[in-house]
Amino acid sequence: MLVITNISALYGVTPHHKLSGQDMAQNPVINNAYIVIEGGNIASFGEMSAIGKIPPDAPIIDAQGKVVLPSFCDSHTHIIYPTTRETEFIDRVKGLTYEEIAKRGGGILNSADVLANTSEDELYKSAYQRIIGVMKTGTGALEIKSGYGLSVDMEMKMLRVARRLQQDLPVTIRTTLLGAHAVGREYAGRQGDYVNMICEQMIPAVAAEGLADFVDVFCDKGFFTTQETEKILEAAAKYALPGKIHANELAVSGGVQVGVKNGALSVDHLEQMDQEAINALKNTTTMPTALPGASFFLGIPFSPVRKMINEGLPVAIASDYNPGSSPCGNMQFMMALGVIRAKLLPVEALTAATLNSAYAMGLGATHGSIAVGKRANLSILKSGATLDLIPYSYGENHIEKIILGGVVIN
Ligand code: NIG
Ligand code: FE
Repeated sequence: MLVITNISALYGVTPHHKLSGQDMAQNPVINNAYIVIEGGNIASFGEMSAIGKIPPDAPIIDAQGKVVLPSFCDSHTHIIYPTTRETEFIDRVKGLTYEEIAKRGGGILNSADVLANTSEDELYKSAYQRIIGVMKTGTGALEIKSGYGLSVDMEMKMLRVARRLQQDLPVTIRTTLLGAHAVGREYAGRQGDYVNMICEQMIPAVAAEGLADFVDVFCDKGFFTTQETEKILEAAAKYALPGKIHANELAVSGGVQVGVKNGALSVDHLEQMDQEAINALKNTTTMPTALPGASFFLGIPFSPVRKMINEGLPVAIASDYNPGSSPCGNMQFMMALGVIRAKLLPVEALTAATLNSAYAMGLGATHGSIAVGKRANLSILKSGATLDLIPYSYGENHIEKIILGGVVIN
């Protein structure tokens, strides 16, 4: 048992699995609150005046008037990668685009070349350190994609590393097979064959070992078509693996519609949205997910999330932590970008970065908000920090203490 008392504001108090439209700003708060944690989960919470009898030996954290948030859920990361790619970054500073770098064999293929010569242990160690880093900035659950392997063996190597990380760390981890991130070098010029190989060999092999929870496709201009995406999603559905699609980053690609049609759990990026793509998401179970870190780092438009929320959609925010387009997994900064650049209110950005992002990786029932029975993943902010200060004083870590599964981590 662990009891937290004297919380000045306890945010994200909702039993829902996601919040849409106007409700994203209505994510409830309790002032002057307590929480009781038992068995790693939230057992009860409420106003301090209503706190029941606490056993005399129960450990207590007196929050002393500090704010408590549900931990961030980061539903889209490529946090397992062999090395950083700052040389390409400098090329972009000099004027090349992300697509130009990819076309000349850099980008994802560059990471795949290095990964082929990196051991599972090395991959594990570097990703472990990055996860410790994002835990310190408040992330309590994250999704990890493969996608730098681009062959059956190498994709499985990445996913095995992700499963090991899941066993060894207190964060909750979900894994996604992203074989269709780029065409592997052995299949250069034979994209159709590569897609067939994903459907006929890669997905069955990954499913047989239970290495992935989801399947992703980079459905965009210069990468995979909507027809190829559909084919892969259909192959994944045979193994009950839902889709999480990279869509509409570089162009209005039809990726949103193909994701929705095939019951994808989320469609991510969405920098290029037309009204048709927005309409396609209405009244569906697919979570639109913005990745503002990629917009910021690549200097491309921000997803029109304000418009999407105004039209009644739910929106999630994730980091896209990866070496090419978003080398940062700090969800406080992602929230700040959502507020500063995409005009969300801080409370909407919080909903997007916690509950809706939990939903986007199939964790809406257990993570992302303060509710009885949900996992006790919480951040206690520093003295004087408020929700509004997270986007305002961006670039600072506002978190003092992290609790994951009811265990105090720092
Ligand atoms: O989400 N868009 C595709 N994939 C990543 C980039 C990966 C990379 O450049 O290494 C993304 O932005
Ligand atoms: Fe991505």
